[in-house]
Amino acid sequence: MTSPAPPAIATAGLTRRYGETIAVDGLTWTVPAGTICGLVGPDGAGKTTTIRLLCGLIPPDAGAARVAGVDVVRQPERVKPLVGYVAQRFAIYGDLTIAENLRFFADAYGVSAAEREARSRELLALTRLSEFTGRLADHLSGGMRQKLSLACALLHRPAVLFLDEPTTGVDPVSRRDLWALLHRLNGDGLTIAMSTPYMDEASRCHDVAFLSRGRLLAGGTPQALRDRLAGRVLALRATPLPAARPAAAAAPGVRSVQVLGDRLHLLLDTPDVDPDTIRAHVTRAGVHVHSLALATPAMEDVFVSLASSEEKEDG
Ligand SMILES: Nc1ncnc2c1ncn2[C@@H]1O[C@H](COP(=O)(O)OP(=O)(O)OP(=O)(O)O)[C@@H](O)[C@H]1O
Ligand SMILES: [Mg+2]
Repeated sequence: MTSPAPPAIATAGLTRRYGETIAVDGLTWTVPAGTICGLVGPDGAGKTTTIRLLCGLIPPDAGAARVAGVDVVRQPERVKPLVGYVAQRFAIYGDLTIAENLRFFADAYGVSAAEREARSRELLALTRLSEFTGRLADHLSGGMRQKLSLACALLHRPAVLFLDEPTTGVDPVSRRDLWALLHRLNGDGLTIAMSTPYMDEASRCHDVAFLSRGRLLAGGTPQALRDRLAGRVLALRATPLPAARPAAAAAPGVRSVQVLGDRLHLLLDTPDVDPDTIRAHVTRAGVHVHSLALATPAMEDVFVSLASSEEKEDG
């Protein structure tokens, strides 16, 4: 019998302060090896700090963390060769060409010349940058720069890849390309932990961790997180939609309302709220209701629900 693989990332009570700010607050989190895990949270939630801690780039004030089997707190230097890090602001050099950037990062990670050539060819093919190796990074499109950053972070064959908001501000086609790449890399066994502000991306991860003010609010598979809201989300199709929104938000038992395409998702305080009461309320506001029915909760609903329970806690 084989024992299950140890987790790629395991933290316990991980904490990091900046003066009065607790950027990461007692984070206890596990990422199984071989998965794609999403780190989701609003600005300032502690995503970047968490990633830097796990890459051994900054020390924690308290707590423990193991990444790829290495104790990051005690042996940060040992974890560096095992992780790849694509920073929120890409760290590639604009005044170097693609080839020069690859060479620079290979040297920085101590990749041998022979290995560097083979691995660069492989990564250039994977990212479809082979034809552009002589081009300055400053002259690449956003999507190409992002793929170059990814290639630079993978030269040394890390076991765990950290990506900090890799698709923020990237066009939809490049986002799709990046996801295809991530799936291929993950298929070859790479564990990927990425932060993202996009709920559609969170839905595509095997596991999601919601952070707010440095704390882990909830974690699990997208399905499990959505299931927690079963019976509490209604979809409202109505005209005019802009008027329906405040009317629905003011209806009793409705915690929050958000636009999802051509409809509104209403998050209810409890599954017991009667849709007919809401319908009557919205209709009184002069809105024509086409349909109001239970909906499958979306990741957006999970996010809103977590944020609103936090606000409630704060009074
Ligand atoms: N070097 C630093 N010095 C002082 N405060 C910091 C530093 N880095 C982060 N912080 C603070 O720690 C908190 C968490 O920041 P962090 O950058 O980790 O969040 P984030 O989730 O990555 O946010 P964003 O979505 O804006 O990238 C914030 O309040 C931030 O202002
Ligand atoms: Mg950040």
